[in-house]
Amino acid sequence: MADRILVAVAWPYASGSRHLGHVSSFGVPSDVFARFMRMRGHDVLMVSGTDEHGTPITVRAEQEGKTPRQLVDYYSREIAENLRTLGCSYDLFTRTTTANHYAETQELFRRLLANGYLKTATATGTYCPADRRFLPDRYVEGACPYCGYTSARGDQCDNCGRQLDPEDLVGPRCRICGGPPEFRPTEHFFLDLPAFASRLRAWAEAQTHWRPNVRHFTLGLLEEGLQPRAITRDLEWGVPIPVPGYEDKRIYVWFDAVIGYLSAAKEWARYVAGEPDLWEAWWRNPDARHYYFMGKDNIVFHSVIWPAMLMGSYPDHGLPYDIVSAEFLTMEGKRFSTSRHYAIWLPDVLSRYDPDPLRYCLIAGGPETADTDFTWAEFVRRNNDELVATWGNLAHRLLTFTYRHFGAVPEPGELDEADRELIATAEAGFEAVGEQLEHCHFKAALSQAMAIAQATNRYLDLRAPWQAIKEDRARAATALYVALQAVDDLKLLLCPFLPHTCQALHRYLGYEGEIAGPLVFREIEEPGAGVHRVLTCQPKEWVGRWQPTRLPPGQPLREPQPLYKKLDERVIEEELGRLEAGGACV
Ligand code: MF3
Ligand code: ZN
Repeated sequence: MADRILVAVAWPYASGSRHLGHVSSFGVPSDVFARFMRMRGHDVLMVSGTDEHGTPITVRAEQEGKTPRQLVDYYSREIAENLRTLGCSYDLFTRTTTANHYAETQELFRRLLANGYLKTATATGTYCPADRRFLPDRYVEGACPYCGYTSARGDQCDNCGRQLDPEDLVGPRCRICGGPPEFRPTEHFFLDLPAFASRLRAWAEAQTHWRPNVRHFTLGLLEEGLQPRAITRDLEWGVPIPVPGYEDKRIYVWFDAVIGYLSAAKEWARYVAGEPDLWEAWWRNPDARHYYFMGKDNIVFHSVIWPAMLMGSYPDHGLPYDIVSAEFLTMEGKRFSTSRHYAIWLPDVLSRYDPDPLRYCLIAGGPETADTDFTWAEFVRRNNDELVATWGNLAHRLLTFTYRHFGAVPEPGELDEADRELIATAEAGFEAVGEQLEHCHFKAALSQAMAIAQATNRYLDLRAPWQAIKEDRARAATALYVALQAVDDLKLLLCPFLPHTCQALHRYLGYEGEIAGPLVFREIEEPGAGVHRVLTCQPKEWVGRWQPTRLPPGQPLREPQPLYKKLDERVIEEELGRLEAGGACV
């Protein structure tokens, strides 16, 4: 397999707080994958940042009496802090408002233009004279001309599902002020997607390893035929168009955001690694593999538009190897909705729950291959009956007992068949769990690791060292040693999923050093452009640790604390109440 792995994670909008649905689709799975790949010894570069342009940001800023800049400064910081709390180990989590990103976006635009892939054309824009702004299609509402539904939007009707243009709506109105919009001609740049159609199709057809949802959706789009796509907007907030005469327009937010994967790699090389050309080891290296993580509403941008942009600008840069798209996470049976305030907001949930149980539930009960419902009852059940009962109690009762009676890793006697079998089972986990993780089968990987914890519990029930110690201390020592050895391996097998508690366990077992962190904030100063704060994960002592351990007999243990807390059933009621009340948005 490739040495160099790019883990490219969807860029969350800095338009407000993010919710559990966001991290279930892009955040936690990408981090599990990146941590595993590093432990397996690959050179991983994991990049993302906040997506800070677009109309929703300008509209919200205006409503709050702020500038767009003030709004994104606030939410970029909040989102980066939430991701750090969750343990997302980005090499660089930056922002789309950096000078570096503006320069890279404009350079890619210029290259597409020079290569003949951008054309100008006059489109019809929807303009609200009261708000004195052009409206994105989604900001226009009216009756659907097909089914009569009165709240159809300018991009589609949610009732009959038809694609619409704002001009199709009967009685169109502005969603910001409710007033009637005008339709005005306006000139824009269009990306000539049809020019890439045959290259895209040949490429996509060869990607037989993509998840079926991504593959079918992408081949379906290519089958229908591609249209040129507008990549500029009538807006003041965004990356300026590097062509004279377009001063009052900006580059479309989606066009600049996907370029972030490349610009962030360059920012990382220059400012974090201190080797400005190092990004090329991932981007200009046919052996590197690029994995993209996102929710399913983002597939087209990663499987069609971004590859076309790369083909047309930097033909020697790597195309996506895998596009790991999750399905939707619903909440107590309903879709999360930022606008309707129906969500479990990250700042709120992270203030009450530890990150590892959340990560556990978002993988074990996450939307990996099908839309999945998150319920608080299920969260409490998984926490108590799976995480605590199977794994947390195993590690804790074993460590407290051994610590109390031996203070150190016991010296084992001769191993019998059951002893050797458990050790072999734990060691085999590195192959078995690794095989699943390599293919982004996160649920299967987690349940295989948990099965090893179950086997360890069965072994302890059989050996009952808590009894044995009364008659035969040497036999108890051997059993404790064997179980501790399995737990030491499990600590690594579970580390991609549960990094904080596995790090704590690593210390209780008497080791020094890091298997999972640390994640730190850094300030980056761009010459002539000011300072911005980024999240980074450096250094990484844990590279290459995906292999069976040899727990040294005699190693002093540290006094253990419980890894997880059992949750009271009462939290279910409490959380349901909060959700109904608008998710206790902070
Ligand atoms: N901000 C987008 C969303 O939340 C995702 C952008 S992914 C990127 O849906 F690659 F374009 F940045
Ligand atoms: Zn209006």
